[in-house]
Amino acid sequence: MTSPGRSCPLSYRYAPGSLRRAPELAADTLWIAGGLYGNPFALECLAALYERERGPKALVFNGDFHWFDAEPGLFNQINSQVLGFAALRGNVETELAEPREGAGCGCAYPDWVDDGTVERSNAIIERLRAAARDAHALAALPMHLVARVGAARVGVVHGDAESLAGWGFSQEVLATPHGRLAAHRAFDQAQVDVFASSHTCLPVLQRLGDARAIVNNGSAGMPNFRGERYGVATRISLFESGNAIYSMKIAGVFIEAIPLRYDHKAWEEHFLELWPPGSPAHRSYYGRITGGPPYAVEQALREAGEAYALELG
Ligand SMILES: [Fe+2]
Repeated sequence: MTSPGRSCPLSYRYAPGSLRRAPELAADTLWIAGGLYGNPFALECLAALYERERGPKALVFNGDFHWFDAEPGLFNQINSQVLGFAALRGNVETELAEPREGAGCGCAYPDWVDDGTVERSNAIIERLRAAARDAHALAALPMHLVARVGAARVGVVHGDAESLAGWGFSQEVLATPHGRLAAHRAFDQAQVDVFASSHTCLPVLQRLGDARAIVNNGSAGMPNFRGERYGVATRISLFESGNAIYSMKIAGVFIEAIPLRYDHKAWEEHFLELWPPGSPAHRSYYGRITGGPPYAVEQALREAGEAYALELG
């Protein structure tokens, strides 16, 4: 028996081959923002950056746009703004729309995440449910999307190539030869050039071989690097923005990690009103919101390097 927050419900699963299909959208510039976590200031910042883009463009929220917004007014604001664009459901939206017995927050946390964090996440989703009226409609959102940018096929998911809450595209798993080999197989099956994911809370841009990359934006609504206070969104485009923290060119497109330098002070005040000291979200996330996680920018950008020879061997 798996405890709530540790399990990966069967309905979260899909075959990587299901992404082997005609793209649902095409654009010269594609923005992908996962893990907004109910931060309205990060959303405002993202919307302003996206607004400035010229040419055919699209913005996809790839799940977990709700989390800290456990207040009806804020929840509705985030919901209506996000659903004005393309959106996938993350585990948060899925568990809000259709709570499953024993799924908890649906995070499918791996062993390296401690029990206290898992229990607090389950407590957060309970409070969020109380604030989220009419969340049933979120169940209709898809779990994945295929986009085309130039000639590049992009598979957009929340977790990984097999599950809404999978950790296969986490920086931890991609740091292992086994993880990169599994990713190669998913690319073969999905027939995409790029996978864009989120869910695992830390960003990574991993090149695989000469012509494949996985880009995980970490979190759009929370800091992603030690000592920094910006969220990160993914931008995939025929053109460089000149605004990337790090980037990579693959299959004719630039894949960029873009900083969302939202109003930290305003968000901190709002967060503290919603989640004062002692609350589960404060205990789990306040340190990260103010000082970032123990992860450096230099750790996020990963070239294939020698590992590829090992993977093929
Ligand atoms: Fe998630």
